[in-house]
Amino acid sequence: MDFWDEVYASRPVATDPRPNARLAELVAGLPPGDVLDLGCGEGGDALWLAGQGWRVTATDISAVAVERLTALAGDRVTAVRHDLGVSFPDGTFDLICAHYLHTPFDLDRAAVLRAAAHALRRDGRLLVVDHGSTMPWSWNQDPDVHHPSPVEVAAEIDLDPATWTVERADALTRIATGPDGSTAEVTDNVLVIHRAP
Ligand SMILES: C[S@@+](CC[C@H](N)C(=O)[O-])C[C@H]1O[C@@H](n2cnc3c(N)ncnc32)[C@H](O)[C@@H]1O
Repeated sequence: MDFWDEVYASRPVATDPRPNARLAELVAGLPPGDVLDLGCGEGGDALWLAGQGWRVTATDISAVAVERLTALAGDRVTAVRHDLGVSFPDGTFDLICAHYLHTPFDLDRAAVLRAAAHALRRDGRLLVVDHGSTMPWSWNQDPDVHHPSPVEVAAEIDLDPATWTVERADALTRIATGPDGSTAEVTDNVLVIHRAP
């Protein structure tokens, strides 16, 4: 079994996966339309977005995650398996979210996020939330890990400023709770890219 399938298969099935902390504040005020969630995992964000009236496509490399989300969401979410290093979901979207699209394997994230920017409709937005610090309970405790800033991520995506503008590039802290119930201050790197109307 592949790494990400192992990750999800080793956990009990989530019956009520929760959305990420930053999602609601980032999506507030946007009129619901078509949204794509990249690296959706157990689908907490996808289900929350569906509950807010968005038509949701969610994708992940893990067949286990995609099957679990399909079983939980029914027709509220279209969950499809993609290795984003190889293929990208069809269609165009008003909003594309990528929360913590991190992996220990080679993935040209800049190319994935560039493809996402191109899959935005006019006036659409790409939300990228990355870890800006290492959580004490993270699988990656490499002390030399570099957490690229949102400005660095935007530079790597390298979009034409005539069509796409950076609306937000912030490092935000919050208190997070780990799987064992312990808490720690963590940093989220938030990037919002807007496609011109
Ligand atoms: C750190 S988890 C975040 C999951 C979810 N977005 C969340 O915030 O809970 C990273 C996710 O990216 C997915 N992923 C990793 N590499 C991928 C790839 N090449 N294509 C698609 N999804 C990938 C993993 O399966 C995993 O669900």
